[in-house]
Amino acid sequence: MKGLILSGGKGTRLYPLTYTRAKQLIPVANEPVLFRVIRAIRDAGIGEIGIVVGDTAPEIKEAVKDGERWGVRINYIPQGAPLGLAHAVKISQDFLGDERFVMFLGDNVIQGGISPLISQFADSQWNSQIVLTKVPNPQQFGVAELDGDGRIKRLVEKPKEPPSDLALVGIYMFDAHVFEAVNAIKASWRNELEITDAIQWLIEHGHSVHPYIHRGWWIDTGKPMDMLSANAHVLEELTPAIEGTVDADSKVDRRVTVQKGATIINSTVRGPTIIGENCRIENAYVGPFTSIYHDAVIENSEIENSIVLEFSRIVGVPARIQDSLIGRNAVVTRSDVKPTAIKLNLGDYGQVGVL
Ligand code: TTP
Repeated sequence: MKGLILSGGKGTRLYPLTYTRAKQLIPVANEPVLFRVIRAIRDAGIGEIGIVVGDTAPEIKEAVKDGERWGVRINYIPQGAPLGLAHAVKISQDFLGDERFVMFLGDNVIQGGISPLISQFADSQWNSQIVLTKVPNPQQFGVAELDGDGRIKRLVEKPKEPPSDLALVGIYMFDAHVFEAVNAIKASWRNELEITDAIQWLIEHGHSVHPYIHRGWWIDTGKPMDMLSANAHVLEELTPAIEGTVDADSKVDRRVTVQKGATIINSTVRGPTIIGENCRIENAYVGPFTSIYHDAVIENSEIENSIVLEFSRIVGVPARIQDSLIGRNAVVTRSDVKPTAIKLNLGDYGQVGVL
């Protein structure tokens, strides 16, 4: 089998972070989401992976390179514009050839490995396998309707009246029949070739599409709050390790990971939390469910349930920062310059909630 990862797209819902960075490279528990996806596919025994890339291709290639780090071979497949998930399949036909493949959305995070699921498909006669999971708000997803025997009757994209609460998770498996489907369907109202339409086409043309119900958590990291909940879930699964230094005046509980070169001075850090390489946490409180990425500084400040990216500095902030996503090289500090006021130098589409 081969792997196909979709890493094009625009990431508009994660602005402003995705103005300057591919959303698949935003780290969750200090590892870019895309790297987790590559590992999941590799762990399922697949060594040949295609990555569909768009405008952010240079940044993705720079980060992933040829895949040697994971022991896989990466091929890049350029997509001129984000014309839909089925369009991404269509342009990958040369790479995929006649092999069965697993397609994974490069911004999805799922609990546990996908190996059993993939080997089940590899050994089957099914033409496709899709992954479904129960969600409380099916109106916002592609939804499957199953018949009395548990077979898929139909798929609907963002239904006003959902036929079930089973949403499509961003992992799909196909054989070469999918190319007939993606070539036969027409673009939707949003001018995209929809993968749900391609799967519906397979069902209507007598091909077998097997549903797999995923019972763990799954997060499509499209929006900032999704990013924070993915971060929280992944942090809970991390095996903690202290590779940096913690001084005698600090309290660091056992669910905390401190990466190489990081220093914790006179601070309290509560897990699950990860402090990245070469960070400095000084006279600070870092609360649960927080990821501080490499080379950041938290000083005389308090933060929890947040993600802070590399080279950012949070210094002397009088109120606790919570539920926040802070980009790279950002500075949040207390200013003593009069008149007393909140002074902002915010990027486009930035959001601030003041006291
Ligand atoms: P989406 O989240 O559906 O789209 P997007 O990345 O454009 O995001 P937004 O709605 O915030 O603007 O995409 C899911 C994944 O698939 C994501 O990793 C991007 C990728 N993708 C492609 O590679 N090609 C495409 O044509 C589309 C639509 C998405």
